[in-house]
Amino acid sequence: MTALWWQTAVIYQIYLRSFQDTNGDGIGDLKGIERRLDYLTSLGVDAIWISPFYPSPMADFGYDIADYRRVASLFGTLADFEELLVLAHARDLKVLLDFVPNHTSDRHPWFAESRRSRGNPKRDWYIWRNPAPDGGPPNNWISDFGGSAWAWDEVTGQYYYHAFLKEQADLNWRNPDVQKAMYEVMRFWLDRGVDGFRIDVLWHMVKAADFPDNPPNPDHQLPMGEMHRVRQLHSTDQPEVHAIAADMRAIADSYGAGGQSERVLIGEIYLPVDRLMHYYGRDRAEVHLPFNFQLIDAPWNARSLAKLIADYEAALPPDGWPNWVMGNHDRPRLAGKRGQSQARVAAMMLLTLRGTPTLYYGDELGLSDVVIPAAQVQDPRERREPGLALGRDPVRTPMPWDGSENAGFTATRPWLPLNADWPTRNVARMTEESQSILTLYRRLLALRRDCLALSIGDFVLLNVEDEILAYERRYDAERLIVALNLGGQPHRLQLPDWARDSRLLLSTAQDPAPVEGGAVLLRSNEAVVLKAWWHKTEKG
Ligand code: GLC
Repeated sequence: MTALWWQTAVIYQIYLRSFQDTNGDGIGDLKGIERRLDYLTSLGVDAIWISPFYPSPMADFGYDIADYRRVASLFGTLADFEELLVLAHARDLKVLLDFVPNHTSDRHPWFAESRRSRGNPKRDWYIWRNPAPDGGPPNNWISDFGGSAWAWDEVTGQYYYHAFLKEQADLNWRNPDVQKAMYEVMRFWLDRGVDGFRIDVLWHMVKAADFPDNPPNPDHQLPMGEMHRVRQLHSTDQPEVHAIAADMRAIADSYGAGGQSERVLIGEIYLPVDRLMHYYGRDRAEVHLPFNFQLIDAPWNARSLAKLIADYEAALPPDGWPNWVMGNHDRPRLAGKRGQSQARVAAMMLLTLRGTPTLYYGDELGLSDVVIPAAQVQDPRERREPGLALGRDPVRTPMPWDGSENAGFTATRPWLPLNADWPTRNVARMTEESQSILTLYRRLLALRRDCLALSIGDFVLLNVEDEILAYERRYDAERLIVALNLGGQPHRLQLPDWARDSRLLLSTAQDPAPVEGGAVLLRSNEAVVLKAWWHKTEKG
């Protein structure tokens, strides 16, 4: 196959506020990314996705945008961005932006107009409804951050809809003028040369036209948060969203589909696999990569993981390219969830499965969720439903770069506390350590770059026992075996006949597994990549 850049690429997510501060305000900025370009290229990633940097009141830390075509002064200037893009491209590093089309800030001039009067030309750009007969909200829809998803507007005597905070008013994507305006935003950045977008909450963008109540969720439990009291049947994933995703794709494709300059669209979509697959598009192409978040919460045993992987592979449409994610700025940290030993195994899985992986900054250091003292909580999610571990500050803490003050992140007090172990868990220190998880990530990324079997090869499940998951990656004559020990006991894994003479390419363990007598003797918590020598006579 001729692979496109985003199929062989590894994407690295940068949570901008926490990557590198250069102007001394304790908050990361675009110049900070520029300063760390050497790091990104030495790590071996191919693309960065930068969280929103647009002017914003920061009610939801930039996911409440007040101007889609500028850079917030907190993060720099448009010229800083353009310079970053040139420098990144000079290193063959692609740059993806965060596009937030579902909602704007309530301070966006469009919303200011819309709320002015019922007759305002922009009234229909947002979702306004009359109160229910009892004067309450129009229906039972709940904000993802808790509480009714409807906010009362005194002046015009109607409610407006907000899937998130009331400071994030949902646009009415059924209105063609809204579509036109937001498509122009895409073109604005594509014209500047960005390599694509991660599209925020794509499955939220269209709501059922008649706004029926959502059905109650019989499985709801308090710790899940209020949003799960109802099933979001009518407020998300409506059939009309697909025409919009297809329009977006057509715009991206008009900038050079099929070539090395192809612009890629990645959809943030939390849905079961069968529904997720529709976002690849059926009659018309939609997003290149509907984010596959399943591994974040997956039960950590071989059988469940094998089933998850097989079901996902089987569900892909014929031209659908897979992708894998183990963490992001909204979900618990990988190392916190799986533990340090299994975080290494998980790293190997993420970088050896078939499909485009996205790494979350800091996961390459094994950063865990950082405990945030109540007085330092920033995230509105935590503030609105405290104590349920729904807050996202713990996974958004500053990148620890070195052993200097504030871990080299900033010259002042960082906006969120650093990980307590930053004096040892930092980039400079772990770069020197041959057995650090950072070194493992570098080796994995280098191996992936070297082996077509890993980046674009076929995937075949080989072995599934309680704690051992093994699979083959194959491209032409190159055949690799990946074997993951998901538990704390050593295991002997018999290799298939064709792989009897395999050689170890990479191990997560300090003292790697011996390969002898046609078997690999995996240590506890060890994962390996083996290269099988292919004998013509033994080909099945
Ligand atoms: C997405 C973002 C999240 C944000 C929400 C509202 O889920 O990843 O951080 O709060 O959208 O924009």
